[in-house]
Amino acid sequence: MTNEHMIVELYAEVVESWPCDAVAIGVYDGGQPQKIVETSCKEWSKDIDEVLASGWFKGKEGEFMVLPLNRTAGVGPSGVLLMGLGKESSITLQTLENTGARLVKIARDHGIARLGCLIPLNRHNGISRGASVRHLAQGAWLGSYRFDRFKSKNREENPDEAVAVTLELAVPSQKKEQLHKKLARWQAICDGQCLARDLGNLPGNLLTPEGMAEQARKIAESFPIQVTVWDEKILKNNRMNGILAVGQGSMHPPRLIIMEYRQGGDRPLLAVVGKAITFDSGGISLKPGAKMEEMKFDMAGGAAVLGFMQAIASMQLEVNVVGLVPSAENLPSGTAQRPGDVIETASGQWVEVINTDAEGRLILADALHHAQTYKPDMIVDLATLTGACVVALGQEASGLMGYDKKLLRRLARAGKRVGELLWPLPLLAGYQDLLKSPVADMKNVGGRDAGAITGGCFLSRFVEKSIPWAHIDIAGTAWDMSGKKPVQPKGATGVGVRLLCRFAEKELQ
Ligand code: BES
Ligand code: MN
Ligand code: ZN
Repeated sequence: MTNEHMIVELYAEVVESWPCDAVAIGVYDGGQPQKIVETSCKEWSKDIDEVLASGWFKGKEGEFMVLPLNRTAGVGPSGVLLMGLGKESSITLQTLENTGARLVKIARDHGIARLGCLIPLNRHNGISRGASVRHLAQGAWLGSYRFDRFKSKNREENPDEAVAVTLELAVPSQKKEQLHKKLARWQAICDGQCLARDLGNLPGNLLTPEGMAEQARKIAESFPIQVTVWDEKILKNNRMNGILAVGQGSMHPPRLIIMEYRQGGDRPLLAVVGKAITFDSGGISLKPGAKMEEMKFDMAGGAAVLGFMQAIASMQLEVNVVGLVPSAENLPSGTAQRPGDVIETASGQWVEVINTDAEGRLILADALHHAQTYKPDMIVDLATLTGACVVALGQEASGLMGYDKKLLRRLARAGKRVGELLWPLPLLAGYQDLLKSPVADMKNVGGRDAGAITGGCFLSRFVEKSIPWAHIDIAGTAWDMSGKKPVQPKGATGVGVRLLCRFAEKELQ
């Protein structure tokens, strides 16, 4: 992870004696500075008013201006950074995250090592003060993330990247300690998300199923997490033919990674299952070449599970979670599975493999089945399962499926709170019928129609109806190659980590 040069600190509210190089001040579209400015920095308000009255600075989102301010005392900030926030009425969590990310970038570009920040500390459109601070800080951390370990010359070419930036947030002194604790938690969550990004960004030659297992073991070195890794032999003994069949075409053998974190006494147990195909070529049902390299991200569900486990352990949440990550590489070869193969999954149900590219559901079938042996109170799976989900929802929301309304509602609420939207897709009985096979209990594909849903229908058959279960299809949200979001450099997003952390905080403890 490479956002270690980003520090968020808290500083007591007396702004004029801040030992920072500049102070960032939020300005709404229309040239109105945030209210806090009038009360906190009377000394500058005349200068700022003059600039705003000139009409040169409009307060559009992302617009900024750096003003040097000569100060007589020689202490405190020597400049002001006006930061456009857009219309006050349209501020969202995303605006705040973008602002956090932009502030760090501007500070780096201008050599501002310590930037005081007067930006998010009021309520916006139902976003609480706490949530505002949280998203500004998380935006700063997530936006500072870079995956540059394969750019040997990076440090020389972009020396700015190495400059540490400290963002100082003004908080009332009586709230400082409380907020300090929260900051540490928020950072732990972002670290988990950045771990998920790192794993996602690693290509198939450098991150194999055994590599995923090593990462899980590494996390367990620092935290009270018990890791068990099943190799081919144990998978075979447990009749996990879904995982084995998908992995049999690759020289890198498949694994089932199990991570147990039990710090919640008799509180409910969550089982979270993440698809981890370290590279998905489609297998014998080979994918077309265009963008096939993006299939290195096909382990994003598993990566989210690892990032989530690390985050809750590092926050010392008093919860019970078991993470299961089935991992394989889907390649065509002389040993690969064929279309038409029939396999007996760990559940005893037989599957006719029509398309070897519908491999995620085969490894998840075994992992979901096995998850039930832990007697969880609920099961949630995350998977880059279908291209059809990207067609349905694009990059704006992940697909949410399942039969337990209450669990779906809780997950959707958590997603909304952290800005990782989930959108429901219905698992109607008629869609289940599309999976009928003439030779086995089911086929692994349902045809072109409702592809995201038939994927969900397939998975539903491996979880007892009595256990609340939800499937989250992150195919459209797990990576972003647009480079257009301030908080998101091109590559893996680490989606799922913040969602699951929020869910664990609110629903498991
Ligand atoms: N990993 C892919 C799904 C995917 C495709 C995610 C594109 C993100 C972008 C998955 O294994 C897959 O190939 N699914 C098939 C299913 C089909 C054969 C029923 C698909 O979506 O084409
Ligand atoms: Mn596939
Ligand atoms: Zn896949």
